[in-house]
Amino acid sequence: MLQVFVLLQVALLSFRIANAQLHPSTPAHYRRLPSLREQAAILDIWRDERLETIPSLLSKYRIDAWLISQREYAEDTLWWSVKDATEYAPHRRTVLLFHTNTSSLAGRSNPIRWVDNTGDVWPELRTIFDSYRPQRIALNTDKYIAFGGGLHVGEYENLMEELGEWTERAVNEPMLGVEYIAARVPGQLQYYRDLQETTWALVEEAFSEKVVTPGVTTTEDVEWWFREKMLLLNVSTWNHPRVSVITPESFPGWSGTKDVIQEGDLLHVDFGITAMERDRRPSGLKVGMQKANRMQTIVLENMKAGKTGNQVLQECLVRMKAEGIRGQIYSHPIGDWGHAPGAVMGFTNLPEFVPILGELPILPNTYYSIELYAYHFVEERNETLRFRVEENVFWNATTEKWQFVYGRQERYHLVNATHPSSFQLEAEPLLFVQPR
Ligand SMILES: *[C@@H]1O[C@H](CO)[C@@H](O)[C@H](O)[C@H]1NC(C)=O
Ligand SMILES: *[C@@H]1O[C@H](CO)[C@@H](O)[C@H](O)[C@H]1NC(C)=O
Ligand SMILES: *[C@@H]1O[C@H](CO)[C@@H](O)[C@H](O)[C@H]1NC(C)=O
Ligand SMILES: *[C@@H]1O[C@H](CO)[C@@H](O)[C@H](O)[C@H]1NC(C)=O
Ligand SMILES: *[C@@H]1O[C@H](CO)[C@@H](O)[C@H](O)[C@H]1NC(C)=O
Repeated sequence: MLQVFVLLQVALLSFRIANAQLHPSTPAHYRRLPSLREQAAILDIWRDERLETIPSLLSKYRIDAWLISQREYAEDTLWWSVKDATEYAPHRRTVLLFHTNTSSLAGRSNPIRWVDNTGDVWPELRTIFDSYRPQRIALNTDKYIAFGGGLHVGEYENLMEELGEWTERAVNEPMLGVEYIAARVPGQLQYYRDLQETTWALVEEAFSEKVVTPGVTTTEDVEWWFREKMLLLNVSTWNHPRVSVITPESFPGWSGTKDVIQEGDLLHVDFGITAMERDRRPSGLKVGMQKANRMQTIVLENMKAGKTGNQVLQECLVRMKAEGIRGQIYSHPIGDWGHAPGAVMGFTNLPEFVPILGELPILPNTYYSIELYAYHFVEERNETLRFRVEENVFWNATTEKWQFVYGRQERYHLVNATHPSSFQLEAEPLLFVQPR
């Protein structure tokens, strides 16, 4: 057992050297966003670029028309990825018809849009169908995938009454919504990088003595610090930050723990692992993070477009077993939504196979959140902990590899003790809080 452990450490050491450049060497900065006006213009350009892909997406899935119908406050999930930047909820009944740009509709806008409260939309739509004669009309009625199932049931019933004979041509093709919403355009990456750096800067400040006083500050204090700080940075949050003290029990963590942060605690927040440790050289904590980093690399090596999420997951689990790493993978696409459409690889409660979402293909022009943990027995603490990491990647079409957007954490963020005079910090920023 001991020998296995030692070998593993040696092996991990070489991975660490190979990947040493992935942890940014300088502190992250808060990045300023463009003005709201500039943001709106940029968002609309991205949206237009994505709309242009719809005709080819329709032909890929042999769909002639894609109909989205919704009312104000009961919008289709797709709405948020189609609307103008200055639009919010769709007004009245907003109906969108995406088409293949061929035959009789070639000259029309795509999508054709109605904002209706008189019912005129239906005869107009039937007239269009009568001339366009679509064979397969996609409706967002999927039972399982949110991004292909945004048609509200009242809207569906209404369509069935209003579309006449065309209701017989209705089909469900959830991959339309999945692929459209998941697709990234090249211009997005630089902003994604900036936001990722802002996220790192937030973590670096939150897990420093500026925010944390051991014995006084609670995990909830840090969570609310994040919330207030995000407001000042003009960004909002997808989920309430969940700050936990890592213990063998504290998982999966749908909310943070409710603890006063003590010297020696290992902390976790959604975007990374941070640490406080009493021992001068807590090598157990280092190795735990190295194992998690190695798992990220394994995921990225196996994650090829076209494979299903479950295939990748299985290959990773086999590889981990061969390397003697125990842990769990639960990675997901990220983009317009924090949990964006596309193939997932594991869920916290489904470690080996995920029905439906795990059976979708990995798509190339997307971003992924590589989220997982490695188990590691930390000798100094006499306990096995989950080393949880989550870092975002994009597909680099030049290298044909997934690449970290800003970097990945390979070292701990440090919280200095409140009495600097008693400090002995090494250059390598593992967390070390000297007991008073
Ligand atoms: C579809 O037609 C509209 C309106 O003519 C046009 O603006 C758009 O660029 C066309 N898209 C494609 C992919 O041809
Ligand atoms: C947030 O927006 C306000 C108002 O435009 C601006 O004064 C402030 O500098 C912005 N903060 C950051 C960090 O961009
Ligand atoms: C380590 O933990 C185990 C299980 O909790 C316990 O039985 C053992 O005594 C501990 N060892 C030390 C050195 O504290
Ligand atoms: C993709 O990788 C190449 C080669 O390493 C690099 O030059 C390029 O900047 C990368 N693309 C992006 C968008 O970072
Ligand atoms: C922590 O304290 C040491 C010693 O006073 C100092 O050199 C280091 O810059 C401090 N770290 C931070 C993040 O302030």
